[in-house]
Amino acid sequence: MIYQIYPRSFQDSNGDGVGDLPGILARLDHLVTLGVDAVWISPVYPSPMADFGYDVADYTGIDPAFGTLADFDRLVSAAHARGLRVILDYVPNHSSDRHPWFVESRASRNNARRDWYIWRDPAPDGGPPNNWLSEFGGPAWTLDTATGQYWYHAYLPEQPDLNWRNPKVREAMLDVLRFWLDRGVDGFRIDAIHHLFEDERLRDNPPNPEWRPGLSPARRLIRTHTMDQPEVQEAVAAMRRIADSYPDQRVLIGEAYLPIDRLMAYYGAELSGFQLPFNFHLLSTPWKASAIAALIERYEAALPPGAWPNWVLGNHDRSRIASRLGPAQARVAAMLLLTLRGTPTIYQGEEIGMTDVPIPPERVQDPWERRVPGLGLGRDPVRTPVPWEAGAGAGFTSAAEPWLPLSEDGRPASVAAQARDASSVLSLYRALLALRRAEPGLSVGAYASVATDADEVLAYERRDEVTGRRLRIALNLGNRRRELVGFAPSGRLLLSTHLTRSGEAIRGAMRLGPDEGVVVELGSASGTRTEA
Ligand code: GLC
Repeated sequence: MIYQIYPRSFQDSNGDGVGDLPGILARLDHLVTLGVDAVWISPVYPSPMADFGYDVADYTGIDPAFGTLADFDRLVSAAHARGLRVILDYVPNHSSDRHPWFVESRASRNNARRDWYIWRDPAPDGGPPNNWLSEFGGPAWTLDTATGQYWYHAYLPEQPDLNWRNPKVREAMLDVLRFWLDRGVDGFRIDAIHHLFEDERLRDNPPNPEWRPGLSPARRLIRTHTMDQPEVQEAVAAMRRIADSYPDQRVLIGEAYLPIDRLMAYYGAELSGFQLPFNFHLLSTPWKASAIAALIERYEAALPPGAWPNWVLGNHDRSRIASRLGPAQARVAAMLLLTLRGTPTIYQGEEIGMTDVPIPPERVQDPWERRVPGLGLGRDPVRTPVPWEAGAGAGFTSAAEPWLPLSEDGRPASVAAQARDASSVLSLYRALLALRRAEPGLSVGAYASVATDADEVLAYERRDEVTGRRLRIALNLGNRRRELVGFAPSGRLLLSTHLTRSGEAIRGAMRLGPDEGVVVELGSASGTRTEA
C-alpha cells in the first residue's frame, strides 16, 4: 500500500508556507497509524520550480525549500525504523533549462553536450521543425536565437527533453538511480515514461478528429510519433537491471497514461520492465457498476503471466476523487481501491476526503493553468495543503499565507478532528487498511466478479488461495437502498463504509444502504461455492 506525498503541501516545518522534508519526518506517525507500507515523494531536487519540482536542475541534490541531503537521510532512516519504505520520483524525460547540462548544451552548436538534448534546425519557413505540441500548450519547440536551432520539450520550454539516444545521457541518468539506491531508497516512481523517445525522423503527428474546443490544445494531435515509441522498452529494462542489482527488492513504478494493451508492454518482456506500470484507468472510467466491472475484468485479463496489478484513484495531476464523485461515493471508492487485487496507491489527502479547492486567479501557481487558462486544466486545486488541525494555518504552516490556499469552508475536517471521529473518512481508511493487512486474500487473493440483479451494485469475491477463505464485497454506486438476494448464504459483515454496523450475521439476502459498500466474510459452513 503506497501513499503519495506531494511535499510542498504535506507539512511545513520552517514557516515559509511550503512543505518540506523535516515536515514529512514529523508526520510519519500519521502514515504508520494509517497503515501504509511505502511513501512515494514527488520531486524534492533542486529546481527553479517552473513545474514545481518536475523541472530538475540537479538530480542528486535536495532543493533548499525542502531541506538538505542530511534531512533526506534522516527521513529515510526514520521511515525505515517504522517499517515504511521510501520511493523517490525520477524524472528522466527532461531536466530543467537551468540544469548545467542544458546550460552547456545551449552554449553553442559544437558544445560537447549539444547532443544531450534534442536540437533541430528550423523548418524552411523559419518556424518549428514540425507540428509537435507541448502538453502544457503551444508548440513543443522553442527557438534558441543565439544558436539558431529549436529545442524540443514535451512539457514547458523550461523542461527541455533529454536525448536518451545518446549513450552518455543514458549512463548519466542511470547513475542517478544508483546514487539514490546507494543512499537506501526503496524504489522510484518514474515520471512521464511514455515521452522518453520521439520519432527520429520527426514525422508530423496526425490531427485528432475527436478534439473539440474546451479540450486541452495538446490533444488536437494524436501523439503517434511523440509517445510510447519502441525504444523506450530497452531503457526501462536498463532501469530495472539497476534496481535488481540491489538487495531487498527495489520497486519501479512507471507513469504512463496509456490504453490497457499498450500499458502492459511496460511490464517488459518476461517481466523485465516496471514491477508496476501505473494503472490509471479508474480515473477515466465512468462511475457505473457495469463499466468498472468490465474494466477490472479487462485489466486482469490483459496482465502478462505473473504480473502484479495496481490501482490508483487520484494523484497530484487529477481532480480529487471526492470532487469527482462527491463525498458519499468517495467512501465507496476507497473500499474499491482497497479491496482490489494488487498494489493500491493513495494520494495525500484522500484519506480525509479532501476535495479540489477553488483557486482565485491571482493565486494560480500551476504553469499549465497560466499557459492555458480557463479550461480547468490547472492542477493547483488538487495540490492544496493538508489540514492537520483546526485554526489558522491548519497545523500545516505558521506562515500567514501557505503557497496555495487552504480550503475556506473548513471542509474536510482536519486530520486531528477526524481521528477523534469514529465514523470519519480517516477512520474508514484506517479500518480498510487494517482489514487489508489482516486479510491477505484482499491483496493477493483471486478475483471473481459476482453477479447481482441490483443495478448500480458492483460485487465481487476475493478468495485467499492458501486458506480458501472467501470475502465478498458489494459496493452500492448509487444512492438508493438495495437488496441483494442470495448474496451470502451464510456470512458475517466485516466492514461497512458507513462504519455504523459490523459483525452482523448475513443469511442469504443482504441489504445495502444508499452509497454503502460492505465486506462480508462467507461462513466456512456454507462450504461449496454459491452463486449469487
Ligand atoms: C508528470 C507529472 C506532472 C508533471 C509532468 C512533467 O505527468 O506527474 O506533475 O507536470 O510529468 O514532468
